[in-house]
Amino acid sequence: MDYSLKGKKAVVCGASSGIGFGAAIKLASEGSDVIIVSRSEENLLKAKKKIKDVTGHEAHSFACDISISSEIEKLISYIKEKFGSADILVNNVGGPEPMAFLKVTDETWFRYFETLFMSVVRLTRSFTPLMNEGSSIVNILSRSAKEALPNLVISNSFRPALAGLAKTLSIELAPKGIRINNVCPGLVATERQVNLMNYAAEKEGISPDIVRKRSESQIPLGRLASPEEIGSMVAFLCSKEASYITGSTFFVDGGASKSNV
Ligand SMILES: NC(=O)c1ccc[n+]([C@@H]2O[C@H](COP(=O)([O-])OP(=O)(O)OC[C@H]3O[C@@H](n4cnc5c(N)ncnc54)[C@H](OP(=O)(O)O)[C@@H]3O)[C@@H](O)[C@H]2O)c1
Repeated sequence: MDYSLKGKKAVVCGASSGIGFGAAIKLASEGSDVIIVSRSEENLLKAKKKIKDVTGHEAHSFACDISISSEIEKLISYIKEKFGSADILVNNVGGPEPMAFLKVTDETWFRYFETLFMSVVRLTRSFTPLMNEGSSIVNILSRSAKEALPNLVISNSFRPALAGLAKTLSIELAPKGIRINNVCPGLVATERQVNLMNYAAEKEGISPDIVRKRSESQIPLGRLASPEEIGSMVAFLCSKEASYITGSTFFVDGGASKSNV
């Protein structure tokens, strides 16, 4: 299949590891000019080396904490100066941490409002003027956009709001030729997932291995996804093969979601 992603300028956030890295690898494999973003310069350098080793593609990087407005402004200035425009934006970031509702302070709520929600608002608002017709935005959400997940009150609260934002934007951005879609992973083998399983294990007084086996047994495909399997969906949605898809939410969860649609 010809994705026609060669030479597309793709900004992938939260991309030094995990799902963002999986998306960056897939886009780079399709020949996109990938710009990876995360907070740590050191993590970004390691990720760039891996992308080069796996795809032969020389990625660019920019260190930026996307929960901070002024840092996003610096990222936009860098993209404008170095590339002039962008064709792909992947909105993705780490967290949130697992917590019981009564333990979540106002400070934590506001921190994740900035990190999970306002990062998408600010990045999308700043990038769309730089995007040409045919551009694509993909938000990495979670199954929690549709189904409340255990221990994840913050995710369960912000992901449905992000799905509502994306649906609204899909209508506003369509006349500009920009598509926006959501990808909702189930369980993905990343550092974050290890932390979540450790949290559940400690809470229940069982080993992380038992938590993992139990989780796998609840997934029809019987295993966690690799970050690259989520990245494949991102690359497809950015491609010309997905030219009629906007305002949609896709579950890549090995069949774990219990909803009919
Ligand atoms: N893993 C799963 O099973 C799963 C399932 C459903 C949904 N999700 C969601 O998918 C997203 C990614 O999850 P993941 O498992 O890939 O997480 P991860 O392994 O923790 O990776 C997070 C990435 O984001 C970067 N990052 C964190 N905070 C940042 C910030 N403020 N600004 C810029 N970059 C930042 C990290 O790099 P630096 O440390 O260098 O900044 C890292 O590259 C999360 O929102 C998560 O809730 C994950």
